[in-house]
Amino acid sequence: MNELSRRGFLAGAATATLRRPANAQATAETVNVGVIGNGIRGTFLVESLLKLPDVKVKALCDVKADRLDRAATLAARDNPATFSDYRALLERKDIQAVWIAVPCDLHVEMAIAALRADKHIYLEKPVGITPESIRELLKAAKGSKKVFQTGQVMRSYPYLKTAVERLREGIAGEVIMLRAWRHSSDDMDHNSSSADWFFNAKRSGDLIVENAIHNLDVCNWLVNSRPERAAGFGGTLLWKNDPPGRTNMDGYTLSYEYKNGVKMSFTQLAFHPTGLPHGGWGFQVYGTKGAVDVVYGREGKVSYYKRERGAQPIVLSQSADSAPQDLHFEAFFEAVRTGKTDVPGGLEVGVVAALTSIMGREAIYRKKVMTWSEMGVEI
Ligand SMILES: NC(=O)c1ccc[n+]([C@@H]2O[C@H](COP(=O)([O-])OP(=O)(O)OC[C@H]3O[C@@H](n4cnc5c(N)ncnc54)[C@H](O)[C@@H]3O)[C@@H](O)[C@H]2O)c1
Repeated sequence: MNELSRRGFLAGAATATLRRPANAQATAETVNVGVIGNGIRGTFLVESLLKLPDVKVKALCDVKADRLDRAATLAARDNPATFSDYRALLERKDIQAVWIAVPCDLHVEMAIAALRADKHIYLEKPVGITPESIRELLKAAKGSKKVFQTGQVMRSYPYLKTAVERLREGIAGEVIMLRAWRHSSDDMDHNSSSADWFFNAKRSGDLIVENAIHNLDVCNWLVNSRPERAAGFGGTLLWKNDPPGRTNMDGYTLSYEYKNGVKMSFTQLAFHPTGLPHGGWGFQVYGTKGAVDVVYGREGKVSYYKRERGAQPIVLSQSADSAPQDLHFEAFFEAVRTGKTDVPGGLEVGVVAALTSIMGREAIYRKKVMTWSEMGVEI
């Protein structure tokens, strides 16, 4: 899969007109943002920030000069200061919020530093790639009055909210099982700018933590719980030592048992032939009365299937834009301006999503059933 399709799939088309939320008691005060990490995702974030009312991109940071220059050109309207050391950016008193989009192994370190610098934070997913580091992050965030939003952007997608609401109302009865998958037709682009860390499991957290964390977070949301146990198998099945030195997986199968008893089956792979059915992303939530099907593809579609033989599916929600991420970003600034801290995809959601993914990874690595308590993070 090329970079555009891997990243762009999530990035989606940002809508051109952005609204100030109707219920926000917002002041028109400008919020100055610093963006740390100006690679593929950081560039998308800068583009999104530039479209938001009363938001300025006042600082940028990247260790690679060409990326810093490119981002500075993109944000020239706001005349941003540029830094190669993120600590110097954090010292700037005129920056109220930092958006962090660096390789995954650096997330916790930078987020803790940003908390200490008393900034509002948008931190890309995964919040962390080890339980130990996530524990440190939670400790540092305790008592913070600042907004902390994570890159679990799917928490802001209206069609998924509809699926969750209808399931909570009991449309499918009691939820008992879930089947989900993320099947790509190709590996991540080996020439991508993020290939220098993505294929190194020690830096990315491995495919499941860097990538399927979005899917697993949606599973947690649909099921309204968090897993208690995980077991699975996987590895580098097709793309062996390709690119050379690669340590992350390209295929695995996992089973989870949730705290509320729901059983879940999840697969991810990077070799699904384009024409073969059931590629892409899917979520099928089975209840005692029927099942809810969530399709995330060119469009976002949620349908309900009653168990009765011959019953026609009922479309619950349909969205032409399957990845409306701007809503997530708008919610961040609404929270900054109104002082409310319960943003969609907040720190707790990000932590549970990361631990869900890490638990699955460790079950595969250690070839054993992993339990939530073994990760030693209280949340
Ligand atoms: N939420 C989403 O939907 C989504 C989508 C894509 C990527 N991401 C996440 O965003 C993050 C970045 O991914 P990417 O694809 O943009 O990677 P990338 O490699 O293209 O960009 C990362 C940038 O960080 C810079 N960097 C590395 N070390 C740094 C340091 N110490 N200080 C400052 N800059 C530093 C690199 O030079 C690079 O430009 C990853 O954590 C990824 O998982 C999230």
